[in-house]
Amino acid sequence: MATKGRIDMLVRFSCLLLLLMGGSYSQRDKLLQGEELKDGDELLSTFGKFKLGFFTPSENPFSTTPSSSKRYIGVWYNKPEDRRSYQSIYYKVSSLKVVWVADRNTPVIDKSGSLRIDSTDGNLKIFHSGGNPIAITSVEGARNTSVTLEQSGNLVLHELHSNGSIKGMLWQSFDYPTHTLLPGMKLGINLQTGHQWFLRSWLTGESPAEGSYTFGMDQNLTDRLIIKWRGEVHWTSGLWQNGKFISWVVHGYKFSYTSNEQEKYFSYSVKDDFTSFPSLQIDRRGYLNNDSRFSMSCSEEGRYCGPNTNSAMCNRGSSYFGVKFGSMSSGDGTKFKESDNMTLDDCRFKCYQNCSCVAFAATNTENKTGYEIWSRGTKFIKSQTDDSRIIYLEVQPKGKSASISRLL
Ligand SMILES: *[C@@H]1O[C@H](CO)[C@@H](O)[C@H](O)[C@H]1NC(C)=O
Ligand SMILES: *[C@@H]1O[C@H](CO)[C@@H](O)[C@H](O)[C@H]1NC(C)=O
Ligand SMILES: *[C@@H]1O[C@H](CO)[C@@H](O)[C@H](O)[C@H]1NC(C)=O
Ligand SMILES: *[C@@H]1O[C@H](CO)[C@@H](O)[C@H](O)[C@H]1NC(C)=O
Ligand SMILES: *[C@@H]1O[C@H](CO)[C@@H](O)[C@H](O)[C@H]1NC(C)=O
Ligand SMILES: *[C@@H]1O[C@H](CO)[C@@H](O)[C@H](O)[C@H]1NC(C)=O
Ligand SMILES: *[C@@H]1O[C@H](CO)[C@@H](O)[C@H](O)[C@H]1NC(C)=O
Repeated sequence: MATKGRIDMLVRFSCLLLLLMGGSYSQRDKLLQGEELKDGDELLSTFGKFKLGFFTPSENPFSTTPSSSKRYIGVWYNKPEDRRSYQSIYYKVSSLKVVWVADRNTPVIDKSGSLRIDSTDGNLKIFHSGGNPIAITSVEGARNTSVTLEQSGNLVLHELHSNGSIKGMLWQSFDYPTHTLLPGMKLGINLQTGHQWFLRSWLTGESPAEGSYTFGMDQNLTDRLIIKWRGEVHWTSGLWQNGKFISWVVHGYKFSYTSNEQEKYFSYSVKDDFTSFPSLQIDRRGYLNNDSRFSMSCSEEGRYCGPNTNSAMCNRGSSYFGVKFGSMSSGDGTKFKESDNMTLDDCRFKCYQNCSCVAFAATNTENKTGYEIWSRGTKFIKSQTDDSRIIYLEVQPKGKSASISRLL
């Protein structure tokens, strides 16, 4: 009881602290025509829960040499631990909980980027020294506009009256999700425009470019959600019945299904709470994650919602693919086409699908692109030098300790 009381007080105190911090921010949540947001500047939503700015994604926040200098515009949770994280102070790379990316396929290559409303057409664009402006919105016929990062994390382009008051909404980021679903966002279809709301995974931990997995409403059976890998169905939530999914529960998240003449969609809500940072994210491996770092349970027996990489597919027992430094005795393996845009995760999946596969690796080690797999019969040769290649090799665990978290 005493502990519970202390926790209650702690929670209340943190809320107060967040409120105070939110209140004391003088940062803006809006960009007006003629203003700019330079690389390094941020928009802060009212009450301080979300920020928008330029960032460089990094898979490994402890790496001293971020592999990329690419800058993206994103929205992230303004979590207290992100603000004071020493990784972000010492390593100047992003360990942010990014929930939306404006320009996932078209980053700026340096820090010259500046976010502005184009005065000629009222659209939001990134101006930079490397070429033409990158358009984030492409609304026609708008002129006098402003853009606001709302409390919900939604970035909204408004049309203004000549006296500066808001005339209406022209565009919102919630209609163009990337890999994260926030409370209030939709997964489904606008029947009038045909516009679909779905999530698409990042390509890699370092690139928010479009990856191989999508998560959204099934277009055939509109009362369920599915994960697809390159168009192939990999997981389903089960049908929506009596206010819940047959085979999917997310603790703490309340889903709802809306179906009318205009639109059909799923969305969720959580109890309004300053100390929680709810999100539902499809990661590059095809797993759904909630606000904690863990993947969610999907059904009683299978903990993961992602593709079926368990032993059933090829009867691999409890083996997994572990990181080794060296080479394979047969030299090159079977290579995938460069144009297939295979990522490490795609390659891993291909390997799991192919029962003769014992190892896989990137062919271009610097940028981790191009992949090859090796079949049974070729042996792994351990290397003594540090600069040897990373090979993902099938490992038979000793004893029964192989846990799914050790899978790549
Ligand atoms: C601004 O202009 C619009 C349309 O002309 C009007 O409806 C609105 O009341 C005005 N707002 C203010 C604060 O004057
Ligand atoms: C656009 O809105 C601003 C206020 O934000 C106002 O000062 C300006 O006159 C408006 N311009 C036009 C062309 O309506
Ligand atoms: C939807 O139906 C079409 C045609 O029957 C089929 O090809 C497709 O795979 C189905 N999609 C899903 C997600 O089940
Ligand atoms: C997130 O998932 C973890 C692991 O399944 C679970 O313990 C936690 O309660 C979940 N949190 C929310 C807010 O759903
Ligand atoms: C691979 O990426 C390129 C460039 O982004 C794209 O044009 C192409 O369609 C992609 N190929 C596949 C198979 O996804
Ligand atoms: C990766 O590196 C290889 C070899 O250096 C190159 O051919 C390829 O175009 C690069 N791919 C990307 C996406 O940068
Ligand atoms: C499995 O991979 C080998 C190359 O390692 C390839 O020759 C074979 O066709 C693949 N099998 C399937 C079913 O894709």
